[in-house]
Amino acid sequence: MAERSIPIADLRYAAVAPAIPATAIEPDGNLVDRLRRPLRDLRISVTDRCNFRCTYCMPKSVFDQTYQFLPQASLLSFEEIFRLAQLFVAHGTEKLRLTGGEPLLRKNVEELITRLASLRTPRGEPVELTLTTNASLLVRKAEALAKAGLKRISVSLDALDDHTFRRMNDVEFPVADVIAGIEAADRAGLRPLKINMVVRRGVNDHDILPMATHFRGSGHILRFIEYMDVGSSNGWHLKEVVTSAEIIEKIGSIYPLEAIDPNYVGEVAQRWRYRDGSGEIGVISSVSQPFCGDCSRARLSTEGRLYTCLFATAGHDLRALLRSGHSDSEIASAIGLIWQQREDRYSEIRSHAVARSDRIEMSYIGG
Ligand code: GTP
Ligand code: 5AD
Ligand code: SF4
Ligand code: SF4
Repeated sequence: MAERSIPIADLRYAAVAPAIPATAIEPDGNLVDRLRRPLRDLRISVTDRCNFRCTYCMPKSVFDQTYQFLPQASLLSFEEIFRLAQLFVAHGTEKLRLTGGEPLLRKNVEELITRLASLRTPRGEPVELTLTTNASLLVRKAEALAKAGLKRISVSLDALDDHTFRRMNDVEFPVADVIAGIEAADRAGLRPLKINMVVRRGVNDHDILPMATHFRGSGHILRFIEYMDVGSSNGWHLKEVVTSAEIIEKIGSIYPLEAIDPNYVGEVAQRWRYRDGSGEIGVISSVSQPFCGDCSRARLSTEGRLYTCLFATAGHDLRALLRSGHSDSEIASAIGLIWQQREDRYSEIRSHAVARSDRIEMSYIGG
């Protein structure tokens, strides 16, 4: 059999060298792209590794022992991440979300959180600091994360039924440990917790109602996510997508629901509340009702590439600027120019789809 070789992410994905504009783009907190969308939300991937092998995200057939994860030297250091985050905040970013892979696998991630928690927006307010995790390490880490200044978390949980959960994470991880992690986060005050369930027809859709029943009245916000055609290794098919409308219909027929207003412009989830007062749920309709029109999210990969869309095929190599001695003003201007030129709205124009093989993986760039 021919030997398979998978290049490390530095070589696997296309990178573009950011231009430094001749006239500086001073950060004044008001940066907007070509569609007048601000840069409010930066998702920072701190590792491309994960201890799960969710079949839709890091299938074992691709992410096996021969898979080349990024070497340590490729990763942005905490100093580098902090320096970039500061520049984004100066440009108007108000929310920072740490992602992965699994962000809690990054050694001493609490130190990074402590530093990021010290950032202030141009109006002098603290940034909203959050993290997306599979919860496998939360029992051990929740307390330290809260102490370091993390405000809240989102937990990925695709099933309550242990058999289905183990089949989806594909590493025999028991669901009871995730539930314990959620309880630890709750005790540590990382509230309100959001629980994200990616729904795939025929795989975990039988768990929609049990999940709703379990989290009703808990104070946690359960959100159902339409399965997306992100990345190139999950063999996505439209028939596996369970639409938000279907989910609301299913839950609403048992527990009556009413729609509520978004918390902020550009919120990805549509919010619904149980009429009997036992809390709220959300649906994220990335496929059936794309929300690119208000998309104010940028993503920074583990090795420092800036992606202006989840479906982008190339990242802007900010690490190259950091490591070649450019000043804060030059790097801020480069970020400003990238954002000013942005016109991504992939989910709205899916029909002109990007070749799947060119897409970045969600495990590389984070949810
Ligand atoms: P908060 O409102 O801050 O709690 O977070 P959020 O609503 O931004 O949610 P989160 O980051 O947890 O994202 C939840 C899921 O929504 C992700 O895992 C994706 O499946 C989907 N999603 C988030 N951002 C985008 C986006 O920019 N584009 C698309 N197509 N999907 C997204
Ligand atoms: N579709 C929708 N969401 C996805 N995620 C990963 N892959 C997909 C996909 N194909 C998101 C999930 C998960 C987070 C880590 O990334 O929300 O909870
Ligand atoms: Fe890991 Fe989350 Fe991807 Fe699952 S969905 S493999 S937990 S990064
Ligand atoms: Fe934003 Fe791209 Fe997602 Fe649209 S597809 S919401 S532009 S990240």
